[in-house]
Amino acid sequence: PAPGWTADADVVVIGSGIAGLVAALRCRPHGRVLLVTKALLDAGSTRWAQGGIASALAPDDSPDDHLADTLTAGVGLCDEAAVRTLVTEGPDAVRGLIELGAAFDRTGDGAIALTREGGHHRRRIAHAGGDATGAEISRALLAELKDSGVEVIEHALVLDLLKDATGRAAGITLHVMGEGQPNGVGAVRARAVVLATGGLGQVFSATTNPEVSTGDGVALALRAGAAVTDLEFVQFHPTPLWLGEDARGQQPLISEAVRGEGAHLVDHSGERFMVGRHELAELAPRDVVAKGIMNRMRETGEPCMLLDGRHFGAAMWEKRFPTILAACRHHGIDPVTEPIPVVPAAHYSSGGVRTDLYGRTSVPGLYACGEVACTGVHGANRLASNSLLEGLVFAGRIATALTGDLAAAPGPSEHTAATPGPSAVATPEPVVDRAMPGGGLLDPAVRGDVQRIMTSFAGVLRGAEGLDTAARELAALPRRGGAEPGVEAWEATNLHTVASAIVAAARLRQETRGSHWRQDFPERSDGRWRGHLVTRLAGNDL
Ligand code: SIN
Repeated sequence: PAPGWTADADVVVIGSGIAGLVAALRCRPHGRVLLVTKALLDAGSTRWAQGGIASALAPDDSPDDHLADTLTAGVGLCDEAAVRTLVTEGPDAVRGLIELGAAFDRTGDGAIALTREGGHHRRRIAHAGGDATGAEISRALLAELKDSGVEVIEHALVLDLLKDATGRAAGITLHVMGEGQPNGVGAVRARAVVLATGGLGQVFSATTNPEVSTGDGVALALRAGAAVTDLEFVQFHPTPLWLGEDARGQQPLISEAVRGEGAHLVDHSGERFMVGRHELAELAPRDVVAKGIMNRMRETGEPCMLLDGRHFGAAMWEKRFPTILAACRHHGIDPVTEPIPVVPAAHYSSGGVRTDLYGRTSVPGLYACGEVACTGVHGANRLASNSLLEGLVFAGRIATALTGDLAAAPGPSEHTAATPGPSAVATPEPVVDRAMPGGGLLDPAVRGDVQRIMTSFAGVLRGAEGLDTAARELAALPRRGGAEPGVEAWEATNLHTVASAIVAAARLRQETRGSHWRQDFPERSDGRWRGHLVTRLAGNDL
């Protein structure tokens, strides 16, 4: 559809999690900043983050130790310069959050309380409200946003990138549904566009991500021709609460911090099956624990494993993990008296829109930060609690880069592209582009089909046959017919685009590494596969 209204800004930020809020606040001194977000300001993943934010704050810790744990978790695919940036700038960035008013939990002597999570050899995870870290960070940043002069449009789904005649990002098109603001499809012309749209967990049937995590930023970037990389590395959190085999949508998370404080993973006979599988046992990196659980489920035929924290006692559960305690009790489980049934679910995209150390993507004027970005920090498997930190550190660096970049950028200009309807199968390099099925928005009903296909054939355990089936079934979906433009249709289309891209990359990577687990290629192959796959839309006519 043609845009019905237009607005201008120097910088338009898309998304309102930690990355979007920090980017907007830090870019504000550089000019007029407009922040657009798909639902309410706090509806994204940040406010669901439980465990905390990692950084070397303890006297016995150091950025080098944090770097070593991050590189180990990333299984050879981290960009060391990006990780070094993260771990050296991390402690000050967290102190900056505290100065802003974020209230982290303290020890008896007033120091910041630090916990452990999977893959960390030190206590380095700061937390707030026990297990409500993201909610507290979000609260503090939103309070800062109030009088910052950043303009906000809620209920605004970004559609596509606008480019000027030179190919530079010149704004976005978006669909606004809120009352008291411009409605319908519009365009924002801007000199810089910052993608902070979060994750893509809704590509799968069961995920820890909220409903809004539909991969909109990755889909937009693919349509815009930006380099997108490492999409095969979708991380499955080991211990979401098991709600039965038919559970769909957002699942309650049982934070890694529960294991960090000493809870044990056991099978139904009470055996601690992670002991002996890894030197860190239950606190091995996330991919190792998820695989350990899945393997034990297969060995025993059980649909879930158990997380036993009964020895914490009621007082500790209430003080340290109030959110988790309430969620479990809501679902009829009392962790004080019984082990918690858990099963892995889609949690985090380690890949995303490729950026440099200042959030610049391969499209001039387009920046990315937070989960939608691939800064190189996570490699094949993100280290627990590095995600809030990455959003915080790299969003700030975008603001730094914009000081110079905006001076060189042209003023708002006429856009040259508007809301094409994508539906192409993604093809990772080096595969040559193939002919694509016709474009157009998909029927919203496709959302459930995409989720079923991805969970059945491209989930935690993958193989060539299943991935081929996934590719075939995804490619067949568009033929069911087009749809009226609307948020549900755009989300379904984005989910389909992103799912196709994940499957294309997962088919190509014939090895097991990090969170990409191929039963037909069970070993890591450093000789052939120690590199990145870049995904592009084949036949993309933008
Ligand atoms: C958790 O609390 O277990 C989630 C931490 C993370 O995803 O980094």
